[in-house]
Amino acid sequence: MSCYTVLYVAFFAIRVRICYTRYTSHMDTGHPARQPNPYRPGFNQAPLVFAGRTDVLDAANEALEVAAFDGRTPRPLILVGPRGVGKTVTLGEISRAAAEQHSWPTVHVEAKRSDLVGELTTRLRAARALFDGTTPGGPGTGRRTRLTGARIQASVLGIGGGVEVSRGEDSSPQSLGDTLRSTMTAAAARGSGLLVTLDELQNSTPAEMHELGGVLQETVPENWPLVFAVAALPSLRGKRGSQLPTYLERAEWHPLESLPVHDAREALTGPAGQSGRPMDPDAADLLLTRTGGYPYAIQVAGHFAWRASHGSDRITAGHAGDALPRITADLEQLFLGRWEDASGREREYLTALAAVQSTVREPNGGQVAQAMGEETRKVSYLRDRLIKKGTIYRSGAGGLHFITPGMGTWVRRHTTG
Ligand SMILES: Nc1ncnc2c1ncn2[C@@H]1O[C@H](COP(=O)(O)OP(=O)(O)OP(=O)(O)O)[C@@H](O)[C@H]1O
Ligand SMILES: [Mg+2]
Repeated sequence: MSCYTVLYVAFFAIRVRICYTRYTSHMDTGHPARQPNPYRPGFNQAPLVFAGRTDVLDAANEALEVAAFDGRTPRPLILVGPRGVGKTVTLGEISRAAAEQHSWPTVHVEAKRSDLVGELTTRLRAARALFDGTTPGGPGTGRRTRLTGARIQASVLGIGGGVEVSRGEDSSPQSLGDTLRSTMTAAAARGSGLLVTLDELQNSTPAEMHELGGVLQETVPENWPLVFAVAALPSLRGKRGSQLPTYLERAEWHPLESLPVHDAREALTGPAGQSGRPMDPDAADLLLTRTGGYPYAIQVAGHFAWRASHGSDRITAGHAGDALPRITADLEQLFLGRWEDASGREREYLTALAAVQSTVREPNGGQVAQAMGEETRKVSYLRDRLIKKGTIYRSGAGGLHFITPGMGTWVRRHTTG
């Protein structure tokens, strides 16, 4: 039995023990079992019920199959969308598909302001060690990568969970290309493949993206069982041209937006139903009008409606109504943070954008400038600053939008109130 398997079994046994103790302590005291809130408001929090996104998941499944069965490296998938729309959790779903359907592990990297290539190289090295069956870290293993920091998933090796990895005292530095090659050779020796997920790619520098793009381009003819899935804010699209390598430009782009009404309803009512406290249809209708299909807002709405229905065996419209002020306050925090981060002139730009948005679907810089009573070139620096700050973005169709859905309405209310 490998060291990993021992660790995993020990971890699992502890979890079972904790759950059993919690369960029996309720029985001992006579208190009803606590019903944990099944909603996950927050960022990077996998929802209990992942709704919709079938186009992206179908595309990812096809890419995994092409790589696993046809011996071809498919084009990378790039998910772009505003904040809180579900990019990270969709990457997580793709990772789950890779593990469940192909027993592939995932190497996951969240791009920071610098060193995407270094981080990716480190984690690929850790994946290689997993494929090789060597034990990273531990006594007697010399100067290998230590297991302490970020996650790579290792279900392929029978571990089924995440392993912690960080850049420790490492063996001789190797380029990204060489590391990828040796990792894929190790994967092939196991009859396996690899999913690489890169999150927040808009943070990385053009130089790093070109290095990454160059390496990926070179690897295509190798026909490795390798799938890349990337997530980024819509500003990544704006980098097309000299800032984005051709290889990524030719990737399969999937814009993520708010969920259509059917999927939004499933995301809202599913967790309550599965947790034994179903939500009445009129309660769901009321909450859905507040969320507009925005996934983050759906989790917030479900969370407060669940809390308001404490002690009840269903969530009624009355509970939903009681929860509305809390839901509004929570979402307003999100907008307020962005607003307070803007200078006086930037707020004027945001106010004008919000006003134009109420009549124009894809407002351009000229229309916003006109609403401010200014010449376009005199205020374009405000637009650029707000795009850079991640408060607004330019859509594929060329229109300017708030990066947090619902903020335009909030700005209109906030500035006229
Ligand atoms: N398809 C979905 N079904 C149900 N809930 C979802 C779905 N997608 C996202 N969510 C929920 O929405 C919230 C935001 O998801 P996530 O963190 O993945 O967004 P994001 O687009 O990565 O945001 P950011 O750009 O800030 O990183 C989480 O609470 C998540 O559980
Ligand atoms: Mg994210």
